[in-house]
Amino acid sequence: MNLCVTGGAGYVGSVVVERLLDQGHRITVFDNLCTGHRDAVPPGCRLVEGDIRDGAALDAALGSSTDAVLHFAALSIVSDSVADPLSYFENNVAGSVSLLRAMERKGVSRIVFSSSAAVYGEPRRLPIAETDPCEPTNPYGATKLFIEKILETCRRWRGLSYVALRYFNAAGSTERLGEDHRPETHIIPVVLDTALGKREMLTIFGDDYDTDDGTCVRDYIHVLDLAEAHILALAAMERGFSGPLNLGSDAPFTVRQVVQAVENIVGTRVECKIGPRRPGDPPALLASSTRAEEVLGWRRRHSSLEEIVGSAHHWRVTHPGGYAA
Ligand code: UFG
Repeated sequence: MNLCVTGGAGYVGSVVVERLLDQGHRITVFDNLCTGHRDAVPPGCRLVEGDIRDGAALDAALGSSTDAVLHFAALSIVSDSVADPLSYFENNVAGSVSLLRAMERKGVSRIVFSSSAAVYGEPRRLPIAETDPCEPTNPYGATKLFIEKILETCRRWRGLSYVALRYFNAAGSTERLGEDHRPETHIIPVVLDTALGKREMLTIFGDDYDTDDGTCVRDYIHVLDLAEAHILALAAMERGFSGPLNLGSDAPFTVRQVVQAVENIVGTRVECKIGPRRPGDPPALLASSTRAEEVLGWRRRHSSLEEIVGSAHHWRVTHPGGYAA
């Protein structure tokens, strides 16, 4: 297929592009490189530098033969979204409307959307199913939920096909592609950097939650398993499916268990101190991915905590400075 991947220079997007190329698809990556990396764009695809709010640039990227879009381009730092919600609405929501408008102009009616567990906010029960209430607790999650509502509206009234993939905690690396956010705030790379002596100390954001060891519980899912779900989502749309799907490993780990896994793999102690709770952190997130398994035929192959942390460690050691700036 001819596919356009917005945000294909970012962490999850680049891994999906790599897998799609392996499968013989023709890919145009559309990215403004504000947080993505040129070096993360796999060789063998066309890179168009542009912003999703720029309709003319999108028209040029989509051309006349795009079969479907995979939409990753977004701002995604929760704390930034709290500091400046309107930027998040401009980029994420208005940008997605602009993309859908360009797709309409070009006759493209299929889209896989990179959504987030952040749409749920603080869950009332675990594991979380797609039918559970969506009550985001931060602007980032609100933008993802708005976009899902726009997609559903366009499905109903304009014949759009879409799959909104609600990622839980994306983690892990491939041989070539890994996590390089600047600044890095995600727990696995931060703990690895502490173990590797690049940071002095890990601050654990609260150990007084109502969980087994008092630290927050998360559901970590390997980017390679996420990538597989995107490929299956393209096929599911062809079979007539549209809607949201959770993607998690359905296995809960506390922050302390993540630290322990890193210590086991790196073979060193990680210096930790306990800090205050981080505003907006839900105590526990855990997916039920049963629907994705049923609808997509999705099977996770890489999402043991050992493989996730092991692959992330390998990438950080082989890419000590991350991607070229
Ligand atoms: N944490 C620490 N210390 C750190 C960094 C993180 O204790 O230095 C803790 C957090 O408090 C949280 C856990 O580690 O309990 C995971 O934090 P991350 O920042 O790695 O991930 P989040 O769960 O906060 O957020 C991630 C994505 C969001 C997405 C969310 C949905 O970054 O974009 O998952 O599940 F919205």
